[in-house]
Amino acid sequence: MSSNFLVPPVVLGILACQTTHQRLGAGSALLRWGVDLADSLALPCRLEASPIGYGLYRKFGYEDLDVLDLNVTEMWGVTNNDGSNWGAKNAIPLAGPAPDGVLRSVIMRRPVKNAVVQ
Ligand SMILES: CC(C)(COP(=O)(O)OP(=O)(O)OC[C@H]1O[C@@H](n2cnc3c(N)ncnc32)[C@H](O)[C@@H]1OP(=O)(O)O)[C@@H](O)C(=O)NCCC(=O)NCCS
Repeated sequence: MSSNFLVPPVVLGILACQTTHQRLGAGSALLRWGVDLADSLALPCRLEASPIGYGLYRKFGYEDLDVLDLNVTEMWGVTNNDGSNWGAKNAIPLAGPAPDGVLRSVIMRRPVKNAVVQ
């Protein structure tokens, strides 16, 4: 087991940007602040990524740890009529593509930068 698992991580609770102001860099700026803080403390990071947030976190060095596949169609009868991003293509190397009707969140970790393995 990696020594990373023994270190308390910096956990991102929630990240959201007003819909009218998305894709303008605010999410990246806030995430940069958080990962820089973690790096300055030599701590790993953890989060649970929504389907839309997943790509942003990959860009900042987060890695797939596990998936939470929720079959919202089966459970609540909600269907993805407009082809929204439900995360079907996220974390495919780890879990394969998510089936229709499933909303996929991904548990992610960002290892300690320049970690020294002992
Ligand atoms: C995820 C979120 C916080 C990103 O904030 P933002 O200010 O739009 O982010 P940025 O402008 O810095 O975008 C950086 C990258 O995020 C990704 N991204 C942002 N919005 C996206 C969207 N709607 N779909 C897919 N990827 C998206 C892209 O990779 C983007 O880079 P690019 O524009 O070069 O392609 C914002 O989309 C949001 O509030 N979404 C709804 C709430 C949510 O799902 N939050 C994540 C919880 S884990």
